[in-house]
Amino acid sequence: MARRILIAGNWKMNGLQSDGLALASALATHMRGTSDPAFEMLVCPPFTLISKVVDAVAGSGIQVGGQDCHAAEKGAHTGDTSAWMLKDLGCTYAIVGHSERRTDHGENDATVKAKAEAALAAGLRAIVCIGETLEERDAGKTLDVNRTQLHGSLPAGATAENTVIAYEPVWAIGTGRTATPEQAQEVHAMIRSELVGKLGQGVADAMRVLYGGSMNPKNAKELLAQQDIDGGLIGGASLKADDFWAVAQSCP
Ligand code: 13P
Repeated sequence: MARRILIAGNWKMNGLQSDGLALASALATHMRGTSDPAFEMLVCPPFTLISKVVDAVAGSGIQVGGQDCHAAEKGAHTGDTSAWMLKDLGCTYAIVGHSERRTDHGENDATVKAKAEAALAAGLRAIVCIGETLEERDAGKTLDVNRTQLHGSLPAGATAENTVIAYEPVWAIGTGRTATPEQAQEVHAMIRSELVGKLGQGVADAMRVLYGGSMNPKNAKELLAQQDIDGGLIGGASLKADDFWAVAQSCP
């Protein structure tokens, strides 16, 4: 089954207004000059830049997402942003459960599942992140850890249209140390087989599973060529328009 490759940039906590605008405008120029791209492109700026970026990429086909959302629709949650607010700004996606959120904010699988369900309820697509630490990999627990996180974080009502999984080994994030294509494919294949059991063959075949962790223009082609890798969630290399565009050009 052909799955449309998703090239997603997670800008994390980077960029003042002028930087974000320049980056978004450069990507929009690339995208407007491309007819019938072989990929779907998404950028997830910090909350402060979402409105400006939505305007800058309007009509280019580039989508905009949030990096997190609260599980509630509204209420007394100082400093938080709801999925409905992201939707209201023009977002179509929300990343949930990124390992930096799990570490910095103590999020666990139950929190992530609730956030993903809020994203779906608000009409967004959820990108649900999972991944093992180096300690867990060295202890031979990679598949078990990812299986547990997948089952605990997957939102009720997940379909291939509304949910994307992102496998991001924690040891590969921001370290320049990428998983080999074989290491990534092994986990992606496990994820797909778990999805078959949970959601059925048809949904599992159609659901996209992204790889994230030091993906860049040099290694993207080999990673994206793997059978069960359906795109990338890109941090550092998404902050330079030419690098991010080069990653997108590596789609098979
Ligand atoms: P890097 O590409 O900087 O390793 O970050 C990956 C990531 O965490 C994307 O969500």
